[in-house]
Amino acid sequence: MSNIQLYYKNTTQDAVGSEHGIRPEDLDSLADRLAEITDRLAVQRLPYRQLPYQQAMVEEVKRLTEQIRGRFDNLVVLGIGGSALGNIALQTALNDPFYNLRQRRNGPRLFVMDNVDPVQFASLLDILDGQLDRTCFNVISKSGQTAETAAQLLIVWDLLRRRLPLAHLADQVIATTSPDSGVLRQVATEQNLRTLEVPPGVGGRFSVLSQVGLFSAAMCNIDIDQLLLGARAMDERVKEKNLRQNPAALYAAIQYLFYQKKKNLSVMMPYSYQLKDLCDWYRQLWAESLGKEKTRDGQVVHAGPTPIKALGATDQHSQVQLYREGPHDKVFTFLEVEHFARDVVIGQEENAGALAYLGGQSLAALMNSEKLATEYALVQSQRPCLTVLFPEISAYTVGQFLYLFEVATSYMGELLNIEAYDQPAVELGKDATRALMGHPEYQELLKNILPYRDRDEDYLV
Ligand code: PA5
Repeated sequence: MSNIQLYYKNTTQDAVGSEHGIRPEDLDSLADRLAEITDRLAVQRLPYRQLPYQQAMVEEVKRLTEQIRGRFDNLVVLGIGGSALGNIALQTALNDPFYNLRQRRNGPRLFVMDNVDPVQFASLLDILDGQLDRTCFNVISKSGQTAETAAQLLIVWDLLRRRLPLAHLADQVIATTSPDSGVLRQVATEQNLRTLEVPPGVGGRFSVLSQVGLFSAAMCNIDIDQLLLGARAMDERVKEKNLRQNPAALYAAIQYLFYQKKKNLSVMMPYSYQLKDLCDWYRQLWAESLGKEKTRDGQVVHAGPTPIKALGATDQHSQVQLYREGPHDKVFTFLEVEHFARDVVIGQEENAGALAYLGGQSLAALMNSEKLATEYALVQSQRPCLTVLFPEISAYTVGQFLYLFEVATSYMGELLNIEAYDQPAVELGKDATRALMGHPEYQELLKNILPYRDRDEDYLV
């Protein structure tokens, strides 16, 4: 079975010089601390770490998928943040890039609606018009009270009731939420909806390998067994106490060392369209987990590296000028694919003049040359670069990647001594939205918010 690997030579002082690179002794200085953290994480064994082993949960997903497979032409996921980003990432990574447009597909079309943009949602409703009875809605919300997801559910609920008066909500809506609390659980019980679980103790951004991510993947014929096997394989590797043998500990250690060197922007740049949405998933994981005001013992630190996504080769033509000549505040993580599932040969044209050198070669060779060329150029400018090497993109390697970055986030949280599993700063904005939208329990907040609505003309140009 093929393993993803982490290549870190181009972060070292040998590659990018002593001012910007890390020395072997820098890593050595963290080795004991990381070994201790490895022990601690093993004892804690947070619930997300157990997800790849939850066979009963997987069987339930398969049972439900089998029951309704063939019944629906469309699957619409309603959710936001951790209740959507994993679903999107899995679909982009493991299904055809034009999956929804294919006549022959092994599953329903998939629409993951992770926003409340009115034009986008109205357009989805146009597309579903006439096919509503062949559409399944999977509403995902751990808390069950996220305004965006609640609004989407209410739109769909109303639509189904009006358009399909003889149909049952219970036939077409599946709710994924906390097992025994929250408004969505209550609605699901009252309306007799089929339900799946966000397991207790698993935060949204760590939930992709639970029923949150697995159901839409299984419906679209992604091999969820392989996904979980990949995660288990990575689980073995990240239990290793030797820092240099443990890819999660090593990734976190390197990011931490650069963070200390004031390189606090962490760019992830896949050279693969299929891997691009893993970057959005990583961005949330890294940002919400590590961006914290205080350490666990209450010291104000305003911690957190800023995750940035870029796409190779596209963003070479947009970002690399800045990456090479701008401030020395970034560390780069490339995602590289050794064997692409498909390839296209570049045409050989006699009359192509100076373009002819490309002829007869493949797009895969061009893509990977672009990656190497960018890495070379960045290293020439003393910019540290990591690479995650995918032997190929499969459910097995993507499962490894997801688990690797979840555990790396845990290590990074420990190194920064912050609480990586909450997101207190997100709440104020959520509460303010509820207040503005008339939620009776949040009206107190309105008087503080309303002054921001009255724009000061002196500052309006
Ligand atoms: O990671 C998180 O916890 C958040 O991004 C949540 O997933 C997001 O806010 C959606 O929350 P919920 O699933 O409760 O609707």
